[in-house]
Amino acid sequence: MFITLEGGEGAGKTTQILHLAEWFQRRGTACLLTREPGGTPLGKSIRALLLDPENRSMAPETELMLYMADRAEHVQRVILPAVSAGRTVLCDRFFDATLVYQGFARGLPLDRLLQLHQLVLNGLRPQLTLLLDLPAEVGLARARGQLARGARAQAESRFEREEIDFHRRVREGYLSLARQEPGRFRIIDAGRDEERVEAAIRAAVAAFIHRPDASAP
Ligand code: TMP
Repeated sequence: MFITLEGGEGAGKTTQILHLAEWFQRRGTACLLTREPGGTPLGKSIRALLLDPENRSMAPETELMLYMADRAEHVQRVILPAVSAGRTVLCDRFFDATLVYQGFARGLPLDRLLQLHQLVLNGLRPQLTLLLDLPAEVGLARARGQLARGARAQAESRFEREEIDFHRRVREGYLSLARQEPGRFRIIDAGRDEERVEAAIRAAVAAFIHRPDASAP
């Protein structure tokens, strides 16, 4: 089973994916927990380039290709082998993030992004995508607070420095994808406290696992 978590800055994905992995663990399923960018050794170097605020003038096309390179490596070396072996994979961001950040927010054409993904994904698609949704202002304030407290490294702050309109387009982009694919997406209100978000995610995943047409978890 392949599950992804998505959302704008400060949505709490990184905390919630850990809670979800613990929940699976308690039910006897050891998950592979991974993320993009940076889910492979090569990807960690790509992540550093992508998130470094020193690289603020990077062209959108360059940014796109770096995310695609990170994903190609991640899909081939980590995700496909694990999914083929029947493991449960939880991934903090995946290809929806490229459609939203490089497509909706930066303005690169979505049809081209989808074409590139045909090459890189090899038919792989998440079965379930949890979208942690909250207003861009609230998420950005949380994320900038984490930077100020040192809970997130300044060396990874390139996107937190984007203007609020960029982050509004990110939110709208995700909601638009979720409307287009209601079978795959579950929208979780991430503006609530951590425990309630955790419970909502658990309920969504449990309902997905036990859906009537599910063949195997
Ligand atoms: P993170 O904060 O969830 O680790 O993600 C790093 C940043 O990378 C985040 O601001 C979103 C951005 N991003 C893209 O722009 N395109 C992508 O394809 C991915 C995976 C992330």
